[in-house]
Amino acid sequence: MTEIKRIGVLTSGGDGPGLNPCIRAVTRTAIAMGMDVMGIRRGYTGLINGEFDPLDARSVGGILAKGGTFLGTTRLPEFNELRYQRQAIRVLNQRSVDGLVVIGGNGSLSGALALHKLGFPTIGVPATIDNDVGGADIAVGVDTTLNTVLDAIDKIKDTASSHQRAFLIEVMGRDCGYLALMAGIAGGAEMILIPEIPTALEAVAECLTDAYMRGKAHAILIVAEGYKPGTQAVLDYLEEHKEELGFSMRVTVLGHVQRGGSPSAYDRILATRLGAAAVRGLAEGKSGTVAGMLGSKIAYTPLEEAVAHLRPVDERIYEIARMMEM
Ligand code: F6P
Repeated sequence: MTEIKRIGVLTSGGDGPGLNPCIRAVTRTAIAMGMDVMGIRRGYTGLINGEFDPLDARSVGGILAKGGTFLGTTRLPEFNELRYQRQAIRVLNQRSVDGLVVIGGNGSLSGALALHKLGFPTIGVPATIDNDVGGADIAVGVDTTLNTVLDAIDKIKDTASSHQRAFLIEVMGRDCGYLALMAGIAGGAEMILIPEIPTALEAVAECLTDAYMRGKAHAILIVAEGYKPGTQAVLDYLEEHKEELGFSMRVTVLGHVQRGGSPSAYDRILATRLGAAAVRGLAEGKSGTVAGMLGSKIAYTPLEEAVAHLRPVDERIYEIARMMEM
């Protein structure tokens, strides 16, 4: 195990609340352990281009409450090519960086795994609003995003009730229904459509008609963006059957509002604990793992396992959501 004297830290992929507290924790833990810290700008793009800035305790001051990532981020699918991975390691060696912390979701952590496999000490912190990474019950950013979605649902319900309307609310989740499911439960949705559980369009219309017949003042459908056949197909179907629905329909696509905002207390604490754990893990030779919260403890799970498949939604929780629909 080589002693780590200088670490690099980067954020990569889609941003989310909590990245800044995590960078701050990585930086201050590393300094406390006697290491130098390099902030790498714009994710893997900045890594291969050598966009490095030294970070000290003061450079990460005043960022705890800020959304986004002050280091910047990019999506770089090309980083799965060996030539870019080798270039990254060349740049890290030139700058005398001997360990790397990657903060991000599935694609970003796959990049971290590739660097580890090439022999460069690399560790991951799960940060994605989709919450689809293995090795973590809850990734950095999820709690704040859920609260953002919930705030929107509560507000939409007010106007929906005034007009006795049904609203379709689309939330993020490219391949995963976690956000939709949890926001749907917390927001009292009449129906939740997620990619993992096929739901026929006929069943959606039926649910709305039933809710109307039972005298509900509103109906809320939460749709994950990854649900097939998609939000537009749901809308088209409901439009064709509008005479049977009772409610009139409106749609709100929440979009990137979900990715911004000041991190919640939970996310700040989670990000701080995981950032600190990542640096300690690197120093202890735990390269090739992701530091995530499992149960109430921090666990180091092999990156290979964490990125092997998307974390499935818990079908028992989906069943509870269905029971609440009455
Ligand atoms: O991966 C997180 C995520 O927010 C997905 O839910 C969403 O589909 C995607 O990012 C949007 O990506 P972009 O910001 O690049 O449009």
